[in-house]
Amino acid sequence: MALFSSSTRQVPTIAAVPKHVAVIMDGNGRWAKKRFLPRVAGHVKGVELVREMVRACLEQGIEYLTLFAFSSENWRRPQEEVSLLMQLFVKALEQEVDKLHRNGVRLRIIGDLSPFDARLQQLIADAQVKTAGNTRLNLTVAANYGGRWDVMQGVNKMLAAQPEKREGWSEADLDPYLSMHYAPEPDLFIRTGGEERISNFLLWQLAYTELYFTPTLWPDFNTEEFAKAIASYQQRERRFGRTSEQLTEKPHA
Ligand code: IPE
Ligand code: IPE
Ligand code: MG
Repeated sequence: MALFSSSTRQVPTIAAVPKHVAVIMDGNGRWAKKRFLPRVAGHVKGVELVREMVRACLEQGIEYLTLFAFSSENWRRPQEEVSLLMQLFVKALEQEVDKLHRNGVRLRIIGDLSPFDARLQQLIADAQVKTAGNTRLNLTVAANYGGRWDVMQGVNKMLAAQPEKREGWSEADLDPYLSMHYAPEPDLFIRTGGEERISNFLLWQLAYTELYFTPTLWPDFNTEEFAKAIASYQQRERRFGRTSEQLTEKPHA
């Protein structure tokens, strides 16, 4: 049985504070370029903003934070940038995991981890084991992640689990095999850096998510900017297919 309801099968219950926030942290390169710095300086600064974001989620009681750190298409970047990003990922895991653990954060990395070097894969595995018992905040980092990859790996696992079944597959059959099976669908999606696209992030899970795009570059996306995104979310009317009038009607006794 799925842990959470699906927005297309039942109308989810919603609260003023989003339960799950998913973020495309974009604009690091442009932030650095504006300062005549190498692109990697933007990525380094970006890690600081991740810390700030985690702190804000802990303070506000947001239960799930999902961050897009490296897409399956980011391998197309210059090799030097890819390798600096990998080094930064290793360093961040080495330096941050203890602190996350002390703060009750459970860390998960989603994506195809197989191309990562052995050391990085080991750090990821250790961090996940270490923080597995934490429940205050579920922090997910998407690395070598792609929304289409996720759906396809899920479908493949689903089919392999019941080889005798020929037809009649449902959403509920697929749910447990998707990378984010442990989380409710995102309530709020934020993309910094001005582009208004999904870039192959959580395609399946964003079905009814409120989308928030801001020109603010990720290294400038501080707590005040995050508060603006939350305030925008709180103005939205989440209808899930119903009419506005239905939302204000008193439920029948
Ligand atoms: C996002 O910032 C970080 C990653 C994709 C790793 P970018 O590096 O895409 O920054 P811009 O879009 O070039 O400014
Ligand atoms: C999306 O950013 C991926 C991450 C933030 C990790 P990109 O900067 O790679 O996206 P596109 O290529 O501009 O769509
Ligand atoms: Mg970008």
